[in-house]
Amino acid sequence: MRQDEEQGLAGDETRQERREQRKRRKREKMLQHGKSLFRVYKDAVLKRLRKKEDKMAKRHNEGAGNFYHHNPRVPTIVTAHAEGRDNAMAASWHASISMRPPLIGVSISPKRFTYQLILESGEFGINFLPAEKAELIAALGGSKGSEVDKFQKFGIKKVKPLKTSVPILEDAYAAYECKVIDHRTYGDHEWVVGEILVTHFDEGVFTDEEILDLERVAPSLYLGADFYVTAAKDSLRLLDRKAYGKG
Ligand SMILES: Cc1cc2nc3c(=O)[nH]c(=O)nc-3n(C[C@H](O)[C@H](O)[C@H](O)COP(=O)(O)O)c2cc1C
Repeated sequence: MRQDEEQGLAGDETRQERREQRKRRKREKMLQHGKSLFRVYKDAVLKRLRKKEDKMAKRHNEGAGNFYHHNPRVPTIVTAHAEGRDNAMAASWHASISMRPPLIGVSISPKRFTYQLILESGEFGINFLPAEKAELIAALGGSKGSEVDKFQKFGIKKVKPLKTSVPILEDAYAAYECKVIDHRTYGDHEWVVGEILVTHFDEGVFTDEEILDLERVAPSLYLGADFYVTAAKDSLRLLDRKAYGKG
């Protein structure tokens, strides 16, 4: 019996770490050999499909692993303005919190330049970009406002905010101006809660109920790491919750 097997859980974690390390090394090697990231992703999916037992097997890991990759998320661009500086970063860890008053929360690492600007100004903007702007999302999530003026570098156009000084992106199909009402540290991130003071949205891409019209806009979705997708318009289903709730 190997030492790590004797150690039970600790051994499981060591094996898990080794497995992750092997996977990372393989991925790096493949990338070095010029395979595109998409190909790497496709290969990983195909490999899993070929392993029949994997299709049905449930895996149970102690700990969380990359739990934050497990569900697709709608990435947003968080904007802020302070001391004459605009900045924008990508953020996928956000949530609606309350309808009355309208509250939204976003989890931001204190390391982000945007975080400093939000704390200084007490305001932030939330901007949703269509899938065709996924490159801009990646760019804003891959650069630091402390090093570069992202608005200038990426040629980002703004519209005038109504009640705050936060930048509102012209390309956003929906954007909100928010006033910080609370912020609290949870682990390595700060949960920043804002009251939505103003909503900006492209009338033409929403139905009367303010539901996104997939015929008019393809929302960007983020799978984690560097993978982005969108929602296929022919996947839309209308399911009456009351009818279904009756069973
Ligand atoms: C799609 C995507 C989602 C991200 N989500 C978050 C997030 O929710 N919270 C966070 O703190 N950082 C997140 N990041 C990382 C920041 O966007 C990134 O660190 C950025 O460079 C910060 O910019 P800043 O230093 O100019 O504020 C995300 C990055 C990407 C690409």
